[in-house]
Amino acid sequence: MKGLLLAGGHGTRLRPLTFTGNKHLLPIANKPMLLYGLEHLKNAGIKEVGVILGPISEGVVEMLGDGSKFGMSLSYINQPDPKGLAHAVQISENYLGGDPFVMYLGDNLLKQGVSDFIRTFEEKKLNCLVGVCPVKDPSRFGIAEMDNGKIVRLVEKPKEPKSNLALIGVYVFDSTIFDAVKKIKPSWRNELEITDAIQTLLLEGRRVEAQRVSGWWKDTGKPEDLLEANQLILSDLKASVPEDASLSTETTITGAVQLGAGSKTIGEVNIRGPVIIGNNCVLGPDVYIGPYTSIGDDCVLNKVEIENSIVMRGSRIQSNQRIVDSLIGSYSTIVDANGSLPRGYKLIIGERSFAQI
Ligand code: DAU
Repeated sequence: MKGLLLAGGHGTRLRPLTFTGNKHLLPIANKPMLLYGLEHLKNAGIKEVGVILGPISEGVVEMLGDGSKFGMSLSYINQPDPKGLAHAVQISENYLGGDPFVMYLGDNLLKQGVSDFIRTFEEKKLNCLVGVCPVKDPSRFGIAEMDNGKIVRLVEKPKEPKSNLALIGVYVFDSTIFDAVKKIKPSWRNELEITDAIQTLLLEGRRVEAQRVSGWWKDTGKPEDLLEANQLILSDLKASVPEDASLSTETTITGAVQLGAGSKTIGEVNIRGPVIIGNNCVLGPDVYIGPYTSIGDDCVLNKVEIENSIVMRGSRIQSNQRIVDSLIGSYSTIVDANGSLPRGYKLIIGERSFAQI
């Protein structure tokens, strides 16, 4: 069994965070999103993985390398023009050879991993297994229409969905998928849809089944999804504060809090977990960090209250305003104007940014 990990695409829905970088490198609980998928493949015993790279690939190869640091062997497959998930499969045929493979969309997070899906695929000798999960907004996803536990039809982003079971972005295939991909045409969004290729397998009478995820699943298509994914991962956080951490006597830590090496607190600091703080951060004085917050490496926070937010590496925040539900990109600066005239909000905000003030 091989793996195919998708880290391509344009990442347009996560702009402006993805103007300068690959969306799969955005941190969820201080870990690049793509690593969660890679770890699931590794935990399922998969050693050989092809990684699809799109037009914004910077940083991915630097982070993953040849895979040896994960005990895996990684190969990179370039897809400069992201023409769809089935196109990604098509260009990987040589790499995958005749082996069955798990395709994992790198912008999806799930709690349970992929081992159960592989087990069902192998035990039932299937040609294809899709992971599914009930959702409130099925028209955002590929959908499986079921009858008596059997898939009867798969539709990509239907306007009038006949089912609430979304395809979760984890698929197990054997080599019959390559012929199916050759038979499909681009969709209304001009992509070769994997959903259409699997529908072709179904029409040809191949053995295609769906299995529900146990535990949560999150697609990180929109910025607010990142905050929700961050909450889900932090819910399982184990507390760890280094014994030699330099903490002021006025520091209060409650709940699950992880503090990275070299991070310190100054003056009054109240951290209420689950909260993860990276390495070499300086926190305080007068800082409150509330539940479901991730602070990346090298951040400096003083005089601020922040909650349910992701602050990416190298950022500096000093504000009398309470910051909630926020995504703050790497190396950002948020400071109060300190009464300097003219009074008012002084903003330097990049293209397609969003501010609620
Ligand atoms: O999240 C689950 C959904 O993912 C499924 O329900 C849909 O059936 C499936 O089509 C897919 O829909 P999305 O519209 O969310 O796909 P998106 O364009 O966001 O791409 C999913 C991942 O695949 C993402 O990590 C980027 C990568 N990708 C995407 C395309 C189109 C590639 O590597 N190459 C591509 O050509």
